[in-house]
Amino acid sequence: MLKKFGVSSIRLGHSPMDKFVVRGGNPLLGTVRISGAKNAALPAMAAALLTDEPVILENIPQVRDIETERKLLSAIGAEVELGYGRAQHRTTICCRDLVNPEASYELVKTMRASTLVLGPLVARMGDARVSLPGGCAIGARPINLHLKGLEKLGAKITQEHGYVHASAKRLKGARVVFERITVTGTEDLLMAATLAEGETILENCAREPEVVDLAALLNKMGAQIEGAGSHMIRIRGVDKLHGARHRIIPDRVEAGTFVVAGALTGGDLTVANCDPRHLDALLQKLEECGVKVRTNGESVRVVGNGALKSADMVTEEYPGFPTDMQAQYMALATQADGSSVITENIFENRFMHALELVRMGANVKIEGSRAVVRGRTSLSGAAVQASDLRASASLVLAALVADGETIIDRVYHIDRGYEHIEEKLRGVGAQIRRIGELLPRRVATPAVAS
Ligand code: EPU
Repeated sequence: MLKKFGVSSIRLGHSPMDKFVVRGGNPLLGTVRISGAKNAALPAMAAALLTDEPVILENIPQVRDIETERKLLSAIGAEVELGYGRAQHRTTICCRDLVNPEASYELVKTMRASTLVLGPLVARMGDARVSLPGGCAIGARPINLHLKGLEKLGAKITQEHGYVHASAKRLKGARVVFERITVTGTEDLLMAATLAEGETILENCAREPEVVDLAALLNKMGAQIEGAGSHMIRIRGVDKLHGARHRIIPDRVEAGTFVVAGALTGGDLTVANCDPRHLDALLQKLEECGVKVRTNGESVRVVGNGALKSADMVTEEYPGFPTDMQAQYMALATQADGSSVITENIFENRFMHALELVRMGANVKIEGSRAVVRGRTSLSGAAVQASDLRASASLVLAALVADGETIIDRVYHIDRGYEHIEEKLRGVGAQIRRIGELLPRRVATPAVAS
């Protein structure tokens, strides 16, 4: 089994030049199983920095960002074992001897969530040096609120040469009111406060299931956290945390992407191994669009055999409609009768996929933070380019209903957060394959020979 699934470096050893070739027209039929949540696994792995005992995490998705986090933690001095297949998608992280409290520019520029080590490092080691993330494909994404919060907990923050340096002998509990809701900001502060002296109150917190999952792990490690999942979280600092075992929640964005794929292709798809409660806003919106959705404890069945109706949508913090599903919803809106106004409230530049959808025949007009999609338009296969993780997913969805063949370039974006998406899609009837860069023969030959 390990051979079949391999370790991450083998299975994720795809070339950055890989492309997907998708032939549209097939309805998705059958059952697809959802992997663990990338955005819950990343902070959970960072939380291991808070203790010198092993932390065992199960249901870790086999995606590129997890590999980046493994590199990051290893560079800090952690021992990280990461196994897939028979090893049950499990990682064991032991942070006994931390030597280098740093997240380098190389890693932060590949994955912004690397900044999640800031809080744990300053709490455990009294010192952290983290490269400042620059802008990215979906917006500015500063970390000023993480820094302000840590300052409130008594950290001294300085910035130099593109790095932020945070230090504190021991953090002290305080009241922190976030100026705006931030997911990783809430997680960073939550981790930092577990080892602070005294009580911390975090207000205007993110309520995402990933925050709740992190708090559950931290409490298993001996932290005293109450209120995760609400706007106010109370943390009583402790002197030491210990090891724990924890299973990561299912990925609600992967689940949502497959639900939309089922609806869009007029299929009959069961999305298994997910938590339907985390998908409420999406499922309600799909019902408004005329999609039949049925849920039970751990799965969603979507039957998309009727005409789709347009519906306006606004992205919001959880429990509102997630920004991470906006691009996929736009692909669906191109196939709905009537106009859908999509308002993106979380990130200022998250419509890059719209331009590629237009190249496939969609009618989308962007006006500031609003996109007006006029449907239904027939889509035709074209060569398109992915610009970020969720944008790539929307192009795959559009390609599934396009006439002819679509070639999607830069699928390394999708490999960051979707586990073997092409295999999962093929398993339920899609025609999709991955192709590597076509190298000139003289370059390719030695590699084959060796
Ligand atoms: N913001 C600030 N200052 C800060 C932090 C955030 O102004 O210090 C702003 C951001 O610029 C943005 C808004 O606040 O406009 C919300 O950003 P947030 O901090 O909540 O985003 P994040 O924590 O960086 C996480 C997910 C994203 C997801 C967003 C929103 C992880 C690792 N990433 O990012 O996931 O889109 O929350 O839900 O959890 C993805 O998986 O594709 C992805 C981008």
